[in-house]
Amino acid sequence: MSEPDLSVTICGVRLRNPTVLASGILGLSEDLLIRVGEAGAGAVTSKSCGLKPRAGYPNPVVADWGAGLINAVGLSNPGVDATMEEVRTAKRVLKPKGVAVIASIFAESVWDFGVVAQKISPAEPDLIEVNISCPNVEHEFGQFFCATPYVAAQVTRRVKQSTDIPIIVKLSPNEANIAEIARAVVDAGADAVSAINTLGPGMVIDIESRAPIISNRIGGISGAAIHPIAVRCVNDIARAVPVPIVGIGGNAAARDAIEMIIAGAHAVGIGSAIYSRGLAVFAETTRGIEAYMRQHNFARLDDFRNSVMETAPTAGSRIVIPQPTEP
Ligand SMILES: Cc1cc2nc3c(=O)[nH]c(=O)nc-3n(C[C@H](O)[C@H](O)[C@H](O)COP(=O)(O)O)c2cc1C
Repeated sequence: MSEPDLSVTICGVRLRNPTVLASGILGLSEDLLIRVGEAGAGAVTSKSCGLKPRAGYPNPVVADWGAGLINAVGLSNPGVDATMEEVRTAKRVLKPKGVAVIASIFAESVWDFGVVAQKISPAEPDLIEVNISCPNVEHEFGQFFCATPYVAAQVTRRVKQSTDIPIIVKLSPNEANIAEIARAVVDAGADAVSAINTLGPGMVIDIESRAPIISNRIGGISGAAIHPIAVRCVNDIARAVPVPIVGIGGNAAARDAIEMIIAGAHAVGIGSAIYSRGLAVFAETTRGIEAYMRQHNFARLDDFRNSVMETAPTAGSRIVIPQPTEP
């Protein structure tokens, strides 16, 4: 059998392999984006940037609670103007290496989403990811943009009118029906979707001091604990819309990534796992997917993408433990 082809094309952008650095995990610096690209990622996503610089919450903002992370950074970012330079530099260095650069944006109003998209576009990111898991300050109760299909679609239309770069709309697992939101943003012009952002909010308390462990008291949950929810969301989306999906949430090894692809993902975002596995997680995941493809005689990712069976096999035991496919 010839070499398995691990490349994937999303909205005309070729990724040499399906692993993608998820937004925000490594803060914002072109050096870090470049290091992740050089460590083997197929694409890197910048930290979400808004119209103006924002300090975010005081430390501690991220904590490891054993089965994942809890974070509330408060959308800290240096603003779109500074991010532009970071994205431009990352693109210049990573493009010749075949690594795609995705610029993530957020805003506080539907209108501002368009302004930020327009401002970041001259940096020529390959794709723009639209983070709608943030509050709309124009709404009476600061409702999140991802909370209703109507508002999620409004943001999508506004961004599409403001840039020619293909857009990925990043969905939240915290809404009742993620497939409905996916359909609304795709009908409004989203070229792709990514899922999921953090789950929650959750809360972790230090039992000695009885204080919450992060400064904001509550925060989004990520990492291993949310992986099954992310897989379910990706599969719900794959059943609802025909666009490419970046599956994110608890991916820490090839088995997690393969599960995401079987559920319907074209590419797999890796975030929290970097804290425990280091940047090697990208190359290790890619190698593990390749080994799985050889083992199953799959020539391309398409050969097993979106191929989940309708039913579980019947088993004598009530408990089934999936076998690891790699170290
Ligand atoms: C510290 C931290 C910061 C994050 N910042 C962002 C962000 O700026 N924009 C965004 O869209 N998602 C952000 N996320 C969410 C991740 O991109 C990802 O969707 C989520 O953590 C689930 O993936 P994981 O389990 O692999 O971490 C952040 C997550 C963490 C842990």
